[in-house]
Amino acid sequence: FFFFLLNFISCELLIIRQSLKKNNLSAFPSNFLFGTASSAYQYEGGFLADGKGLNNWDVYSHKPGNLIVDGSNADIAVDHYHRYLEDIDLMHSLGVNSYRFSISWARILPKGRFGEINEAGIKFYNNLIDGLLLKGIEPFVTLTHIDFPQELEDRYGSWLSPESQEDFAYFADICFKSFGDRVKYWVTFNEPDFQVKFGYRLGIFPPSRCSRPFGNCTYGDSEKEPFIAAHNIILAHIAAVHVYRTKYQESQRGSIGIVLHCMWYEPISNSVADKLAAERAQSFSINWFLEPIIYGRYPREMQNILGSILPEFTTTEKQKLNQGLDFIGVNHYTSFYVKDCMFSACEPGPGTSKTEGFWAQSSQKNGIPIGEPTDISWLNVYPQGMDKIVTYLKHKYHNIPMIITENGYGDVIKADSTIDELLHDEKRIDFMDRHLDALSTAIKKGANVKGYFAWSLLDNFEWNSGYTARFGLHHVDNKTLMRRPKMSATWYKNFIAEHRKWK
Ligand code: NOJ
Repeated sequence: FFFFLLNFISCELLIIRQSLKKNNLSAFPSNFLFGTASSAYQYEGGFLADGKGLNNWDVYSHKPGNLIVDGSNADIAVDHYHRYLEDIDLMHSLGVNSYRFSISWARILPKGRFGEINEAGIKFYNNLIDGLLLKGIEPFVTLTHIDFPQELEDRYGSWLSPESQEDFAYFADICFKSFGDRVKYWVTFNEPDFQVKFGYRLGIFPPSRCSRPFGNCTYGDSEKEPFIAAHNIILAHIAAVHVYRTKYQESQRGSIGIVLHCMWYEPISNSVADKLAAERAQSFSINWFLEPIIYGRYPREMQNILGSILPEFTTTEKQKLNQGLDFIGVNHYTSFYVKDCMFSACEPGPGTSKTEGFWAQSSQKNGIPIGEPTDISWLNVYPQGMDKIVTYLKHKYHNIPMIITENGYGDVIKADSTIDELLHDEKRIDFMDRHLDALSTAIKKGANVKGYFAWSLLDNFEWNSGYTARFGLHHVDNKTLMRRPKMSATWYKNFIAEHRKWK
């Protein structure tokens, strides 16, 4: 009883805190998208169900020697494939008006363009989309969220081959044709910057290629391969956008964008060198993709540093790069300090590779962390980062519409974690509250932001962390797969309800 009383009181306090914040709520326009986000591999399970082909993560997660800390995989994940109706009900009770999910490429095309369409896969996404619309929830669809059909990986080596462009455009065409009458928001790729660094340099994501073999990672030219893979991804994005613009946009009237992992890089000092280093860090992550897609060329810093390592666009490709997106998807979680390593020595570390632009990242300055550290090594709570990154993108890309496609807080499960602790997630509430607040500040200053998606509706499979890192607004029991709302679910529900009342 005492626990329930405590829970009730803290919820009430949160609601009061929210109503005092009406001023900030007013910053979000009335048609603002408030949603939750997910991805196929992390959620669906059903890894061999109804004709689905294997994808690269199915294979990677089963290989001994991979780097998934709890030895798990997403064969079942949170069984969204079979429980999507229950999950739509959870979203409906939150009051969200949008759901970001991704399509499993291998569920639709088990053999890519070399085989048949799997009609059962089309049916699953049709049911999901119709179920969402029935509850007034707008589908917001990512074509591929890191997964890739294994058949194509084996055939030509995924993103290292230009053949991947043709396959992706073919897959995108099928999705636009099958679902585009109801889907008005499309994303081509999710965080390709991380995908290529992890897959072709660090070797911790499939196809696990790296400079020094370890575990099941195989040798690849890691100074070059991330840039080749990224080049093919950019051209695959452009090919899909071209299909959409020429065949579907006029009749379907939707919009299409790409999602980047948008960390905020704070210069560690006011020196010109550190400021330039922070800008280089952005060039070697977000601008690596956005400058070609929006301005038709790679960032100047990348060209100067990489020289001939950086692939070039042909004249025809450059023409197609024009009008490459309608919105920028911003996944924002964390911030780092950046110190220049061009002229002074820096500790060698993950950020100091020559091909990453001679910058080094640190979460501390003179022993003081940026924001507050968390149990997740890469996650520093620094809400100002949200305002700063959105404002940076506003200036750099002439205020093209932006959508916060992910933002969220992760807990690390410990041996003695109790269910009550996990459900009583004040830290997640505090994180979302302060980040939404910072977002409202950016919007008030004129940033063209159209939506916010919390990562995530449910606890799910967190890549190399398996099920040990949990980002859900709902707890999922690994054995029974039962979903239970955490306190943050109630908080988000109240936040959205207050926003609606205010408009
Ligand atoms: C971003 C990725 O898109 C998503 O797949 C991941 O689970 C979250 N970050 C949390 O790390």
